[in-house]
Amino acid sequence: MDITHQIRIVWKPIVFVICLLPVLHAIGDMYQITGDLGANPIENLQDRFGNWGLRFLLLSLAVTPCRRITGQQWLIRFRRMLGLFSFFYVLIHFTIWLLLDQRLLISAITEDISERPFIAVGFLSLTILAALAATSTMKIRSKLGRNWQKLHNCIYIAAVLGIWHYWWQVKIDATEPIIYALVLALLIGFRLRYSNLKRIV
Ligand code: HEM
Repeated sequence: MDITHQIRIVWKPIVFVICLLPVLHAIGDMYQITGDLGANPIENLQDRFGNWGLRFLLLSLAVTPCRRITGQQWLIRFRRMLGLFSFFYVLIHFTIWLLLDQRLLISAITEDISERPFIAVGFLSLTILAALAATSTMKIRSKLGRNWQKLHNCIYIAAVLGIWHYWWQVKIDATEPIIYALVLALLIGFRLRYSNLKRIV
């Protein structure tokens, strides 16, 4: 079996199941098998899926640097899956807010956004991720040509907004959003350095 075939048949399904573990863990906690959801189950679920959305976003951005550092070209074949999982988790995060927290009430939604403006920043980030997910297929990629890469560079804006959205709501301990921000700064630094090198060489 060649490496392309092996990745498609063996490794992609394995990575797919690993990416689903946060959902299985949440279900386990819901039924008190792996733990529990604490005193505020809605907030617990919303927070954990928001965090997973951000983690997968940063993981998808880390694929290219890892590929260049290690020379393992096959890593790129997992980037789309990781990006789509980021969108998937952020969508669950948003759906929990919309259905369980706000109960789809327009008055509650507008009140929450005006009281907690960090939500609008999250909304912007989600909108970008939705556009990137919708244009992630090979068919659209070849249709858009060079513009595809320009559009997909917006992933960095989505990440900045996602971290800002988190940081803005923190009241006491900002350690976690600071760590996310440092990781993102590192990834952006790598990206800028690499594109400069490409221009020089
Ligand atoms: C329309 C879109 C979004 C809405 C309505 C929304 C809403 C919220 C709300 C209400 C909270 C606070 C929950 C609480 O009270 O503890 C929150 C937290 C959070 N959100 Fe979002 N969000 C959105 C998009 C995003 C996006 C796109 C990301 C990531 C890329 C994200 C990541 C997070 C994270 C990491 C937290 C903090 C979790 C924690 O406290 O550990 N959210 N979001």
